[in-house]
Amino acid sequence: MSRLPVTKIPKDPNRSTQNAVSPFRYPGGKGFMSAFLKQRMQLLEAPTNRVLAEPFCGGAGAALILLADGFADQIMLNDADLRIFSAWHAILEEPERFVAKLRKVSLDMQEWYRHRDLVAGFSDNKYDFDVGFSTFYMNRTTRSGIIMNAGPIGGYDQRGKWKLDARFNVERLANQVEWLAANRNRLELSNMDALSFIDRVRRKPTSDNTMFFIDPPYVKAGGRLYFDGMSEAKHVALSDILTSGTVKRWVLTYDDAPLIRQLYRSQTCSNISVNYSLQSKRRENEILVEPNYL
Ligand SMILES: C[S@@+](CC[C@H](N)C(=O)[O-])C[C@H]1O[C@@H](n2cnc3c(N)ncnc32)[C@H](O)[C@@H]1O
Repeated sequence: MSRLPVTKIPKDPNRSTQNAVSPFRYPGGKGFMSAFLKQRMQLLEAPTNRVLAEPFCGGAGAALILLADGFADQIMLNDADLRIFSAWHAILEEPERFVAKLRKVSLDMQEWYRHRDLVAGFSDNKYDFDVGFSTFYMNRTTRSGIIMNAGPIGGYDQRGKWKLDARFNVERLANQVEWLAANRNRLELSNMDALSFIDRVRRKPTSDNTMFFIDPPYVKAGGRLYFDGMSEAKHVALSDILTSGTVKRWVLTYDDAPLIRQLYRSQTCSNISVNYSLQSKRRENEILVEPNYL
């Protein structure tokens, strides 16, 4: 494939993985985009009531940093996966119960299997606190935060250097949950397909002052990492809505696949480079798409 221009993602001086706002770990999480998105938020019309909307929110690493650092007044988080939604909903609507459970839960393999089975067997179609908590537990105790089909940190025999509790600092997680609960009125949560979500948000009176940060599952690897609600037809439908001119401000990140280059050829495309990060190699395979308003 031909070379694209490169966009250097600046380092956010206030934030690193050590002081993340999101309580989730997320494979390919986009917390590293926060300084770039802060710049983009300044393009919004009004300096007040600025909204950041994430149709594929996952752990919402970047959106929460913008909320915490005052670059967004309101964030709208949406994820089609009911297990992820249940985890967010449990944190936001039942924070005391969630924190009490965090403080009590054991970090051993017997407990891990219990949460794994609950998440794997979930087939309901409505919010469930226990599934939400188990999803969160899996996110914090499996290798690289993958919720399904990944092994526990430290291995099944727990003989690795790091064990199940390596990423489960109870007090830190409790603080993050409490911060979210305290900011509850600045967060809107939904569990829709991303396309319906974008359609709904673009019709709101606040849409002129809304920035969409769109981070869909990858075209190539999506299915392995997350619940993947994206067929090729849906990738195409997403590009239809974004390039129609009816969604004013958006930033899109994807894997650099031929389909994506083709769908967004009329927009501003570049590759991402994150110079300060050890993960810079991986980022070269990602593409950043923005509308041609810049
Ligand atoms: C790449 S992840 C987002 C990661 C996020 N940006 C972060 O930093 O944590 C993609 C998310 O999209 C969700 N998803 C997949 N298909 C979807 C769809 N059709 N509509 C809405 N969400 C979807 C998945 O459940 C997953 O959490």
